[in-house]
Amino acid sequence: MTRPLTDNMEIFAGLIVLIACCCSLLISNGNEIGGCSQTNNFFQYTNYRTSYHFQPSRNWINDPNGPMYYKGFYHLFYQYNPLGAVFGDIMIWGHSASYDLINWFHLNHALCPSEPYDINSCWSGSTTILPGSKPFILYTGIDANGRQVQNLAMPKNLSDPLLKEWVKFSGNPVMTPPNGVKKDDFRDPTTAWQGSDGEWRVIVGSRSNNQGIAILYRSKDFMHWTKFQNPLYSSERTGMWECPDFYPVSINGTKGVDTSVLNPSVKHVMKASFNSHDYYMLGTYNPQMEKFFPLTDFEGTSSDLRYDYGKFYASKTFFDNVKNRRILWGWVNESDSRQDDIEKGWSGVQSIPRQIWLDINGKQLLQWPVEEIETLRGKQASIDDKKLESGSVFEVSGITASQVDVEVVFELPELEEADEFINPGLVDPQLLCNDKNALIPSRLGPFGLLALATEELTEQTAIFFQIFRGHNRFVVLMCSDQSRSSLRKDVDKTTYGAFVDIDPRQEKISLRSLIDHSMIESFGGGGRTCITSRVYPQLATDKAARLYVFNNGTLGVVISSLNAWSINEARIGEEESFKV
Ligand code: FRU
Repeated sequence: MTRPLTDNMEIFAGLIVLIACCCSLLISNGNEIGGCSQTNNFFQYTNYRTSYHFQPSRNWINDPNGPMYYKGFYHLFYQYNPLGAVFGDIMIWGHSASYDLINWFHLNHALCPSEPYDINSCWSGSTTILPGSKPFILYTGIDANGRQVQNLAMPKNLSDPLLKEWVKFSGNPVMTPPNGVKKDDFRDPTTAWQGSDGEWRVIVGSRSNNQGIAILYRSKDFMHWTKFQNPLYSSERTGMWECPDFYPVSINGTKGVDTSVLNPSVKHVMKASFNSHDYYMLGTYNPQMEKFFPLTDFEGTSSDLRYDYGKFYASKTFFDNVKNRRILWGWVNESDSRQDDIEKGWSGVQSIPRQIWLDINGKQLLQWPVEEIETLRGKQASIDDKKLESGSVFEVSGITASQVDVEVVFELPELEEADEFINPGLVDPQLLCNDKNALIPSRLGPFGLLALATEELTEQTAIFFQIFRGHNRFVVLMCSDQSRSSLRKDVDKTTYGAFVDIDPRQEKISLRSLIDHSMIESFGGGGRTCITSRVYPQLATDKAARLYVFNNGTLGVVISSLNAWSINEARIGEEESFKV
């Protein structure tokens, strides 16, 4: 998202932040660090606040920045407005740490505007851990002229595993917008990778001649960077690339590999954020030509691969060398109004960290919530081998339906009887889901879950499948239908949808949903298709919320197995509250 500021506004915003920072120093128990302050004793709870997804205590957050593992702690930085629940004219890097990716404590802000090269904001960026366990942050500063420049910061004390203090490099900025690139089209550096020649490479998101581009920079010492003659990749059918991510994935198995790994056993992923979604391409990286060659370019159609077909943006991965896995974080925005956010006092949630790897067929990525989430599982409900006749709705009872992890596997005894897929050619699955909503029966489907529902089903979010017979294969459609998610009129209820690349003759159809008050993160077909939605029920909150399995198709389906666990609240709070 581009959020332009006029020069006057920038000066005005700068003054406001300065005054606010000084005032909060006087009136609160805030800590002063590197030019910004924070208060520690405020916590607001509403029915919509999540209980096991990462959120700071209050205010606006957006992109995850620089996630990494360092000396016993996972670190998450994030775009944060310390002054309110809306995107701020002055954005900073919030910082939290965790032992297990689930329970988090908030630390002092890592980066705040303080120098001419970032005086108007510290925007998104990444961390790279250099040999000798030395983490470096590369981030975008909005300078005194509203220009986007790339800056470097390093920890003040490498022996502090919490990395509480960061020092900005005296040689900043290390990259400025090159010729042909507008001053506000140059941002969000990736984690760097090191070539066999020892040089570091990094890409920066940009746009030039109406093409989205990944500008490549190289450096011998990580401090002096030179733009390479060609971008690593440019795409004609996209706008400005925000938050690019570029990393290798192993071609066999679920294990992750470090960002600098390059050998015949890996493929590369190029992710870019645009049009409010995170799209990716799979392909090969040629270090001699410094070019990425995708299997297919972005088409600008619904056939482009996405991490998530709901709300999920500006994501970033990192390699976790403790468990040899690559982990993905994404920003999940609100879909209530700006005024609601101001009243709630907060806006934005991070997704559950997801392990990400290449499907064995090499055609797409798979994602699954990190295993640590299972440590929060409490009471369990199970159903085995239960036939769901046409039109049936069955309650999953004995769990807390507003805070639940549920996984259901369906068997389709009458698969061959599925309706024919009558929409030839390219079809937008989101539009199909809109047409074929949860109430409209076909033969096989809709069947799935009704989350955050009231007893009378006046409120319900249906996450469901529809199966059709296509030419020589079956078409599996996965939808998240928010149209009846709330009796409230003033919230966005867009329905999301995507195909699941699965053959139901070979494999049962599975759905896992992480439900957390206003958040539903769903993983279809073992993580082949992910859909995240935000919903704001009026009645189906807390104890009033119910969970059901349903089948509105005219043919029966069988619940082969269903397991649901109440999820305990994660400990996410100020550092003090973690001290015993
Ligand atoms: C993506 C984005 C980034 C930018 C940041 C500012 O959501 O617009 O491009 O660095 O947010 O907060």
